[in-house]
Amino acid sequence: MEVTMAKPILLVDDDPQMRDALKEAIQRLGHGTVVAENGQDALTKLGNTPFAMVVTDMQMPKMDGLSFLKELRKRVGKLPVLVITGFGTVENAVEVMKEGATDYLMKPFSFDKLTRKVHSIMEGLTGSREIVSTNARMIRILQIASEISTSDTTVLIYGESGTGKELIARHIHRHSNRKDKPFVAVNCAAIPDNLMESELFGHEKGSFTGATDRKIGKFELANDGTILLDEIGEMSMGLQAKLLRVLQEKEIDRVGGRHTIPINIRVLATTNRDLYKESTEGNFREDLYYRLSVFPIHVPPLRERADDIIPLSEHFIKKFSALLNKELKGLTKESAEFLEAKQWRGNIRELENVIHRAVLLSKGEFITIDDFMCDTDTPIVAVDNSAKGIKEMEKDLILKTLKDVNGNKTKAAKILGVSVRTIRNKLNEYGKFFPDP
Ligand SMILES: Nc1ncnc2c1ncn2[C@@H]1O[C@H](COP(=O)(O)OP(=O)(O)OP(=O)(O)O)[C@@H](O)[C@H]1O
Ligand SMILES: [Mg+2]
Repeated sequence: MEVTMAKPILLVDDDPQMRDALKEAIQRLGHGTVVAENGQDALTKLGNTPFAMVVTDMQMPKMDGLSFLKELRKRVGKLPVLVITGFGTVENAVEVMKEGATDYLMKPFSFDKLTRKVHSIMEGLTGSREIVSTNARMIRILQIASEISTSDTTVLIYGESGTGKELIARHIHRHSNRKDKPFVAVNCAAIPDNLMESELFGHEKGSFTGATDRKIGKFELANDGTILLDEIGEMSMGLQAKLLRVLQEKEIDRVGGRHTIPINIRVLATTNRDLYKESTEGNFREDLYYRLSVFPIHVPPLRERADDIIPLSEHFIKKFSALLNKELKGLTKESAEFLEAKQWRGNIRELENVIHRAVLLSKGEFITIDDFMCDTDTPIVAVDNSAKGIKEMEKDLILKTLKDVNGNKTKAAKILGVSVRTIRNKLNEYGKFFPDP
């Protein structure tokens, strides 16, 4: 998928100043560029190089944008094209969309807007693994993440729930020398403690009741690659000691096994807890904390990078429109303002869910404020009608239990006999947020 990223973007404009400006803006996004002065010039260049997409002006001498677009569609069917149209020429914009432009940008436009459009078109090409951000702090974090990818440093990625920690972990693996080797994620919150050791390190046949076969653990599966210890803060103290040993000795013992097995592994971990604080309070081993946080990365909450709200929303609108077979073009001004004003305690995951519901509800070309109305109070959850009764009861039970224990998810999970992870997932699904007490 990343192959498309490597292809340059073709920029077509007769105005040299405009060309330079476009070039600079797009290169800043990390894409290569090739420039052409008019349609004819562009067609010649198209013959020689595969491009990721085209950005073209409309009014140009020799061959105007519209004839260029028609010709281009004949030659390369699917290439995405962003058309820049003159101020106030709405008919023009409609016409270019009919001729197969992917999107248009009306003059005058801010570079921010251009960047977003190009970005979202490229996104459509590269799938949902891409990390969307126009926030300076976030971009810096991603740069750092890319830079440390190639080393074998242990990285602790921490931040609130739903901020994109797992996405960053995957990003690090994809940019590492281990990218063709396995990436194995273990959710430390989802697996009951008594099964966790065998999940991580495997077991030999007959090593305990129920061990009817040999099992290869996640560490062995991830050998030569990367292991992600997701939600490491949920790991029991006993297992933390074992994990520390593995990290120090670089070898594992299968449960009931007689030999140690050497492993070569890159360890990444995530947490939404303050592990340092937990370690000072005796809830997390201090030595393990230092071992894991060789390189800590803090992922800021969405409310501290509000400039990402709209680009992310557009990204999710694209994603869910494609998924739900809708032809949504974006947000109305009011709906954008609504999203920008919200607090987003559930961060990007919450935003993603809100957009998902809005895309489901929307009837027009743009998401309007009405499409969010269900999110101002109790959000609706897409449920199968026949299951609605049970779902509703489950929701009531979870919310009531949480209230009873003052929002303490660990306690609620214990009472209900489910994992903390399940509680979190359910809360995300309901669009509810309970701050950790
Ligand atoms: N910058 C981003 N661009 C695009 N999608 C994003 C971005 N950040 C997060 N997402 C999406 O938001 C969702 C939550 O991200 P992720 O699972 O990585 O977060 P997390 O911090 O691990 O959350 P949790 O604590 O709930 O496990 C995912 O669907 C992910 O694809
Ligand atoms: Mg996660």
